[in-house]
Amino acid sequence: MSDLASTDLLALSPVIPVVVVETVDQAVPVARALAEGGVPLVELTLRTPVALDAIRAIAAEVPEVVIGAGTVTTPELAKEAAAAGAQFLVSPGATPTLLGAMRDTGLPFLPGTATVSEALAVLETGHTAMKFFPAEASGGVKFLGSLASVLPDVRFCPTGGISLATAPSYLGLHNVGCVGGSWLTPAEALASGDWDRVTALAAATAALR
Ligand code: 3PG
Repeated sequence: MSDLASTDLLALSPVIPVVVVETVDQAVPVARALAEGGVPLVELTLRTPVALDAIRAIAAEVPEVVIGAGTVTTPELAKEAAAAGAQFLVSPGATPTLLGAMRDTGLPFLPGTATVSEALAVLETGHTAMKFFPAEASGGVKFLGSLASVLPDVRFCPTGGISLATAPSYLGLHNVGCVGGSWLTPAEALASGDWDRVTALAAATAALR
């Protein structure tokens, strides 16, 4: 794993769409709908039993999308996601064991942090690209902006409670590379197969940068 690759992850799109699929047949169409709207990557969360199969399907059938695994909470999930074809990993928090497991996959990864000490602990491992989670509940734009002067090398992807309306204030911070959010892929749009809505929500994020 090169830390440069993890940092590059923050520059692919102003928004990393955080996607929850309930059935595996939602996976390929939702990835295609996001790509159609100009969003070239997907964070598929490991929160449903079909998530690893969904990653496999997108990796096989939607090569234009960079597919990653989110909600990586154990070393085993890091390995399983990599084996399923995930091209990056995102975790909501970071223990030394989980950090080591994500690094061992060789994939770029965004470990979750929510405090100065957590960010320092990740920084001590030589890793500078992080998720800031849960962003709104952990102090939001004001907190993250306060970190820029004390942790100038760290680049964050704040996620959690962010919307199209609030994304610009995060993206205006020097230490933010992109934001994450689930608003591009509402559960009801996936359930009803409203892929045009997903494409429209994705396209709306292009104006963010
Ligand atoms: C995540 O896993 O990063 C969050 O659940 C996404 O947060 P949101 O649903 O508030 O966008």
